[in-house]
Amino acid sequence: MSETLRGRVVGAIDVGHSDEWRTIETIDPATFEATLGPLMRVPSTNELLIAYDARGCPRALGARCPHRDLPLAEFARHGRRPGTIVCTAHRCEFDVESGACVASEVREPVPRLLSYRLVPGVRGWLAEITEEDTAR
Ligand code: FES
Repeated sequence: MSETLRGRVVGAIDVGHSDEWRTIETIDPATFEATLGPLMRVPSTNELLIAYDARGCPRALGARCPHRDLPLAEFARHGRRPGTIVCTAHRCEFDVESGACVASEVREPVPRLLSYRLVPGVRGWLAEITEEDTAR
């Protein structure tokens, strides 16, 4: 396994080919209209979702909000900045690339959202798990 800025790579999760990802439809709370994104489901696991960072690169994200463990497939919407998502439960906004909470309306510290780099695999993409990811 290789070395990254976030430590040694200790594993990988198959998230399939981008043709297989299915954009999640959500309801815009302001207009009550259906809207697409920002997250996509992958066929091989319910533990990870896909979103694009500010550079347009896909990342695999943990499927649960790190604030109160709610399902992001239900609560996530597009963030105010490019490459961010917001969990509408308590308005925590996460940077897709780093997983850092960049804005929130809660007083307590919010843990980082799991965010994995994708690398090409044999039949699609692999989410690369590093030592830093497993330490949390
Ligand atoms: S559960 Fe997501 S912001 Fe609180």
